Amino acid sequence: MKVDGQDIRTIWLDKDKTVVKIIDQRKLPHEFVIVDLKTVDDAITAIKDMYVRGAPLIGVTGAYAVYLATLNAPGAHIDPDYLATEADRIKAARPTAVNLSWGVEQVMSAIARQTESEKKIEAARIAAGAITEQEVENCRKIGEHGRSLIEQISRQKSGKTVNVLTHCNAGWLACIEHGTATAPIYAAFDHGLDVHVWVDETRPLNQGTRLTAWELGKHGVKHTIITDNAGGHIMQHGMVDIVIVGTDRTAVSGDVANKIGTYLKALAAWENHVPFYVALPSSTFDWNIKDGINAIPIEERDPDEIRYVQGVDHNGATSVLICPPDSPAANFAFDVTPARYVKGFITERGICKATEEDIKRLFPEKE
Ligand code: MRU
Repeated sequence: MKVDGQDIRTIWLDKDKTVVKIIDQRKLPHEFVIVDLKTVDDAITAIKDMYVRGAPLIGVTGAYAVYLATLNAPGAHIDPDYLATEADRIKAARPTAVNLSWGVEQVMSAIARQTESEKKIEAARIAAGAITEQEVENCRKIGEHGRSLIEQISRQKSGKTVNVLTHCNAGWLACIEHGTATAPIYAAFDHGLDVHVWVDETRPLNQGTRLTAWELGKHGVKHTIITDNAGGHIMQHGMVDIVIVGTDRTAVSGDVANKIGTYLKALAAWENHVPFYVALPSSTFDWNIKDGINAIPIEERDPDEIRYVQGVDHNGATSVLICPPDSPAANFAFDVTPARYVKGFITERGICKATEEDIKRLFPEKE
């Protein structure tokens, strides 16, 4: 995607192939800072502390973290036990997005096919690069398939503005390019359709306010930030034509884990007959889980993310306490939307219903 005229991705390998470059998303939208990841610990910190975030990007960062583990292996020989321990540490950095273990496992399998250390390093680099390209292409295809939904609504409205509501940031910043939930929006916009996005602020870390608004604005897409609590009201008043969100882990039954607050949006959409779609690459399906509500691990983060608000004032970045100093807070980072509230999944292979049968129609090899 373009930032101030420059093509940029969220993650890439430096020319000398020893340093992984990322955008520090904690600093957006006020500062655009690129950070170097040189070690596994750097990558784990970047995932845990959310320099990088969003399921597909976490997956690719995990894949490159395994590559960094091969580069930094002690001694000339890459010991399988060392590598397995590093892989487990990387996978534990954030629990909900299944893409993380998926990305790590893909690279571990590529390494396992090699015997010499040099070949293992090369295999890890090639596998991480291939996953990156695959996710870019999958998101592009999600855009193409999802665009048809927006086109259909646009036709029904005789070309009037199509209003999309989205939650959190499932944009290119959460992926490598295009995004998942935003991919159909960018594709529709680039096709000349009149589209406007309601951006949920997404407390407590404000991924909507900070990131989705920023990237939509950079692309020229009309958008309006709303409080997390406004969705029900605007759906009730016919101001939303379609909801499109991303996901961190989708059970094969169709239950969807996504940023906290998604479930409430799905309930409001159901009540108001607004179609609720979830956009995801196949790397976000968890083929082993059927009961999303009880089996998907829900991350609980530092309560101070709720108790303090980050922003900028005339002196630069600042953090402000917004609650009584002694009040505790509980920071559930994700929730699960039951499949019955999901109208459909927009995947790289097309659109399907949120049922095991229909998901496996698109992905028969998972049968
Ligand atoms: O905590 P985050 O910012 O990593 O949460 C991100 C989300 O919930 C996204 O909606 C999800 O990862 C889909 S990303 C395309």
